[in-house]
Amino acid sequence: MKDLTPDPKTLDPIETASRDEIAALQLARMKWSLKHAYDNVPYYRQSFDAAGVHPDDMKDLSDLSKFPFTAKADLRANYPFGMFAVPREKVVRVHASSGTTGKPTVVGYTQKDIDTWADCVARSLRAAGTRSGDVVHVSYGYGLFTGGLGAHYGAERLGCTVVPISGGLTPRQVQLIEDFGASTIMVTPSYMLAILDEYRAQGRDPRKSPLQVGVFGAEPWTNAMRAEIEQAFDMHAVDIYGLSEVIGPGVANECVETKDGLHIWEDHFYPEIIDPETGVVLPEGEKGELVFSSLTKEAMPVIRYRTRDLTRLLPGTARSMRRMEKVTGRSDDLIILRGVNIFPTQIEEQILKIRTFAPHFQIELKREGRLDEMTVLVEAAEGHSDSTERLQAAAALKKAVRDTSGLNIAVSVADPGGIARSQGKAVRIVDKRPKG
Ligand code: DLL
Repeated sequence: MKDLTPDPKTLDPIETASRDEIAALQLARMKWSLKHAYDNVPYYRQSFDAAGVHPDDMKDLSDLSKFPFTAKADLRANYPFGMFAVPREKVVRVHASSGTTGKPTVVGYTQKDIDTWADCVARSLRAAGTRSGDVVHVSYGYGLFTGGLGAHYGAERLGCTVVPISGGLTPRQVQLIEDFGASTIMVTPSYMLAILDEYRAQGRDPRKSPLQVGVFGAEPWTNAMRAEIEQAFDMHAVDIYGLSEVIGPGVANECVETKDGLHIWEDHFYPEIIDPETGVVLPEGEKGELVFSSLTKEAMPVIRYRTRDLTRLLPGTARSMRRMEKVTGRSDDLIILRGVNIFPTQIEEQILKIRTFAPHFQIELKREGRLDEMTVLVEAAEGHSDSTERLQAAAALKKAVRDTSGLNIAVSVADPGGIARSQGKAVRIVDKRPKG
C-alpha cells in the first residue's frame, strides 16, 4: 500500500490548532447555536424553558450539561419541518431517513450548511488520503439518504473527478472502477464485499485494481474487516462516520497515516459521551452513548442530540481534534439473549478469524418455547466445500463465541453466495421472535 499521508500544508489550520484555540472557537459558536435554536425553534424554546435554562447560561463548555437532550422522537414529533430554524424558503435541500416504523426523520440545509457539509467531507477525504485530481467512485446511495450526495459534494469540493454511480448493478461498478481508474471508493463496507465477489466472478485480480483507498461507513465494521479488505484489494480502508440528524457523512473520519479512530470535526460538531441510562456526562475515555450539538448549522441546529451510538472519546493524535473509537454498535443493535449482551460486530470479529468462512453473515433470533435462540448464518469461502471442514469451522465459531461472551449459539454454514448481499447498509439481525 502506498503512503498517502497528506501534505500538512493542505490541512485546514484548525486541524492542527491548539486545544485552547479549538475550545475558544467552540464556546463562541456554542453560544450562537444555543441562541439560534432557542430564538427560532419552538421545540427548543419549550424544552429549555421546561428545564429552566437559557442560552445566556452558557458561560463555559461544561455548562452544556445543564441543557436538555434531543432524541429522534422529538424530531419525529415535529415532522416534517418543525425543527427548522429558518424560513422554509431558505432551505435549499432536505434529506430523510426512513426508519423502521412511522414517519421519516427529516433534515434540512441552507446553502451555507451544504457548503459546511462539503467542507467536512472534503476534509474527511483528505484525511483518508484522497487528493485533488483523484477519481472518486461514489457507491453510497443517492437520494433521500445522505450518503451519496454528501460524499459527492465533498469529493467535488476537494477537486476530484466524481463518479456518481450510487449502489447496485455490481458488475458495472467493477467495470467503471477499472475503466475510469478510480483511486478512491466511498461505499458501505458490506457492499465493498459484494464488489470484491464481483471482481473474482469476473476473473479480475482485486489487488491489481486502481483503488488505493476506501472510505467506509454508514454501518459498524471491525478492524478485522479492515484487515480483510486491505489485504484483498491491497488498499487502505479508512472509517467515515456521520448521521443525517447531525449533517450526514463527514462528522468524523480516520486519518490514513494512523487509522486509530475517527477525528471528530469539532469546529462544527461538539461531542459528549453520556451514560445511556442516567444521562450523566462521562469523563473522557469512558465508553457510553455519543451525543452531538451542532455549532454552525443554520437550517436545523441540533442541541445534545442522542445518537444511540456507543463509543468513547480519545485525545487527538494525527490532528488536534479529539477522536472517537470505532463505533461497536448502536444501542438498538444490541442483542440481549438470556441476559447476555452481544453486538453483531463481536460475531464479525470471530468469523473473520476462521479461514473456512467468508465475511458474509446474518444473525437469526428465534424463540423456542420460552428460550431465545440465536443462529449465526455464515457463508463458506470459495473452495471450502468439504463438509467435515465446515463442521469443524462451525464448532470453532461456537466455541469462540462461548469463550468471549458466554453465549451458546447455533451456527449454520451456507454455500458461497448463499447469504443475501446488501447494496447499502447490511441487515445483520433477522428477528423472528414473536413481538410483544
Ligand atoms: O449513515 C451517514 C453516512 C453515510 C455515514 C455514509 C458514513 C457514510 P444515517 O442513515 O442517518 O446516516 O445513519 C446514521 O449509521 O448513527 C450509526 O449508527 C451508523 N453509522 C454511520 N457511520 C458509521 C460508522 C449515515 N463509520 C447511523 N461506523 C449512525 C459505525 C456508523 N456506524
